[in-house]
Amino acid sequence: MAITEILPGIHYVGVNDRTTTRFEALWSLPMGVSYNAYLVAGEKIALIDTVEESFGSRLEANIREAIGEREIDYLVVNHMEPDHSSSIAALRRIYPDIEIVGNAKTLQMIEGFYGIAGGTVEVKEGDTLDLGGKTLSFHMIPMVHWPETMVTWCAGDRTLFSGDAFGTFGALDGGITDSQVETDRYWDEMRRYYACIVGKYGGPVQKALQKVRTLPVGTICSTHGPVWQRQIAKVLDIYDRLSRYEGEPGVVVAYASMYGNTEQMAERIARELASREVGPIRVYNLSYADPSVVLRDVFRFDTLIVGGPTYNGNLFPPVAELLDRIAARGIPRRRFGWFGSFCWAGASVRLLAEFAQKMKWEPLCDPVEMKQGYSHEMCDPCATLAEAVAGCRCGK
Ligand code: FEO
Repeated sequence: MAITEILPGIHYVGVNDRTTTRFEALWSLPMGVSYNAYLVAGEKIALIDTVEESFGSRLEANIREAIGEREIDYLVVNHMEPDHSSSIAALRRIYPDIEIVGNAKTLQMIEGFYGIAGGTVEVKEGDTLDLGGKTLSFHMIPMVHWPETMVTWCAGDRTLFSGDAFGTFGALDGGITDSQVETDRYWDEMRRYYACIVGKYGGPVQKALQKVRTLPVGTICSTHGPVWQRQIAKVLDIYDRLSRYEGEPGVVVAYASMYGNTEQMAERIARELASREVGPIRVYNLSYADPSVVLRDVFRFDTLIVGGPTYNGNLFPPVAELLDRIAARGIPRRRFGWFGSFCWAGASVRLLAEFAQKMKWEPLCDPVEMKQGYSHEMCDPCATLAEAVAGCRCGK
């Protein structure tokens, strides 16, 4: 059996992208990304999702390699974001009789994006499609990650085609299933993918997880990253924790600094944390750090300490940008400490306090504020902040 035949009659026909530098023109891709598509072959053949359109010819070649000159009868569209749907029009030209299967919202989007209206089959929750020897059913998981998103379940093979759910950044290095790739490389990329792409939709992800748990899933075929078979429990656990916004013990110190004074406060706070054996500790200079990595760790850990200088009577822009990203994702519970600086009129500490109030976050202690340059006098206030974090860790 070819490595691309995941299970008898189920073929991986997706592609790797190691050249795009920004996913959604926003998020870095140091390990690349895969756009996964699958063929399910019974007496009839269904293709589940397509790939980003610049890889359309590779998708076609992969399909030909799997099924030769046989026709594809159906294209099931689980998700309409263009990284999966933008080859639909090309597929239709290659296979003019292919019937496109999607829910009402999907079919509207196909017309809106690609001007395709005919030759479609509308499905609703629980509807089935008999391929002869394999039967697919369709289940809605709206907002994971768009409103039209659904999953396709192949009960006979205990296989879930899950769309973006359970996906991860990271191209596939040769293997396809989780027993064929080095899975440890993907866990942080999965958290980063979740935080950046799906992170706003914790509630819908929880609902999707409830549906998935009712199924005897043996294989998860997501649209990004490895096919999950051995590590399904770990994947579900990561998605469950992140979608409940449940932070693990750990501290993110995220700061920005114009002239290095605020940076010295951050360094001091981190050192004081380490001396109290509080960890893990991740320190990021927001003017230089990859925003997706910072966001990943804000999702992952339960404590966040943010600091920055006052700038034009406001927050320094890199700090404001982080807060905007957090607010947009509605992260509900974090232990929060903050610090700031000013030259002649302070604003950053007050604005960080307002942010904590807006997010209903638990303040760890009074903020640390510094006027003008860093000096040894700041050591005690920084230590007090670190002590407050350590106190929480000890359950004090
Ligand atoms: Fe991979 Fe929401 O698209």
